[in-house]
Amino acid sequence: MKVAIVMGTRPEIVKLSSLIKLLGKNSTVIFTGQHYDYNMSMQFMDELDIRKPDYSMKLTKLQNATTDRATQIGEIVLNLAKIISRIKPDTVLVQGDTNTVLAAAITGIKCSVPVSHVEAGLRSYDWRMPEEHNRIAVDHISEFLFAPTELAKNTLASEKVHGRTFVTGNTSIDAIQQNISKAEQKSKLSIDKKDEFALVTLHRGENVDSKEILSSIVQGLLRSKMDMIFPAHPRTVKQLQRFGLDKKIQKSENILIVPPVGYFDMMYLMKKCKFIISDSGGVQEEATSPSIRKKVLIIRKSTDRPEAVKAGYSELVGTGTQKIIHAIKKAKNDSKITSTTNPYGSGHSAEKILSILRKTL
Ligand code: UD1
Ligand code: UDP
Repeated sequence: MKVAIVMGTRPEIVKLSSLIKLLGKNSTVIFTGQHYDYNMSMQFMDELDIRKPDYSMKLTKLQNATTDRATQIGEIVLNLAKIISRIKPDTVLVQGDTNTVLAAAITGIKCSVPVSHVEAGLRSYDWRMPEEHNRIAVDHISEFLFAPTELAKNTLASEKVHGRTFVTGNTSIDAIQQNISKAEQKSKLSIDKKDEFALVTLHRGENVDSKEILSSIVQGLLRSKMDMIFPAHPRTVKQLQRFGLDKKIQKSENILIVPPVGYFDMMYLMKKCKFIISDSGGVQEEATSPSIRKKVLIIRKSTDRPEAVKAGYSELVGTGTQKIIHAIKKAKNDSKITSTTNPYGSGHSAEKILSILRKTL
């Protein structure tokens, strides 16, 4: 069995790490370079202790978000088609909903190689999101669909996808369970027990590319007066500067904005914080892990992780200033998690995926 694993961004590295280790020599790892800064890519491969990719691409630095996303996908398809034709894998395996995932799935099917989609069946029903376009397209051209939950499986069934669906849990939980002790030992951060803070991450295009929405969110964070640590995604840093919001944050007394942190520091911050404020998909899942168990205030209009909301780990807040202030005030007083369920599994997803691949390929 030969599996070509294609990945290009921070969350894909995290969520494919357990599978790469388990597959070992049965895998060829191809990195598209969609995320290119060290602290958005290689740092995660180093910390999660996965081998260097067998193939690494360098994409053109892109400037214009509308036209260049098509160019980005085109560049990946062009580069990848050569590699896939050469190595002739039994499947092209992708995870999630990024442009890398769409490009790799198109390449797989057009090179007559079946596509395996990890984290299939998620929907936000928000058509502003490029991720929603990507995952719907990929789900419909995949042969093997690894749904994290029964809900995702039912969604795929209702859409009458062509491929076979299996429920496996989410590999983000594998990564935490395998790395949490090491992360706590290796993190360079040291936070005093009495320092109460919220952890903030923001990067969704529909939030940070709109001046109105980003200003509304930043106002909510500033006016809440809650102490916060905010590791900012490079896209968010650029947009905060463009809209003149960066100085307001730097001058504030409650928000500490820092560059993106690596996996070890992120796990440390997730464990130490009182609660989380985020628009990240992966963070909503990670907060449900038995090692983290933290409340997430979701700064979005919809979520593709409703299982975590239903289980009481997260709350859909929206992007309005008043709603954010109110939700933070409430979480400051009570952010206790009482749920006893793990909606995304307990950390054995890669084993389930591998056993299915062995039986089916
Ligand atoms: C992408 C994914 C998103 C995922 C996120 C994870 C798509 C459509 N979106 O969003 O689903 O949640 O990754 O973080 O694929 N940049 C840098 N350095 C980097 C990477 C990005 O400066 O290493 C900046 C560049 O200005 C770039 C912008 O961020 O143009 C956006 O990067 P891109 O990969 O297109 O999308 P993300 O917002 O990272
Ligand atoms: N993450 C990290 N450092 C950060 C922000 C996020 O290590 O500064 C991790 C996070 O814990 C999760 C992954 O990156 O494992 C999620 O990536 P992101 O939020 O960028 O993407 P999404 O999950 O929304 O696609």
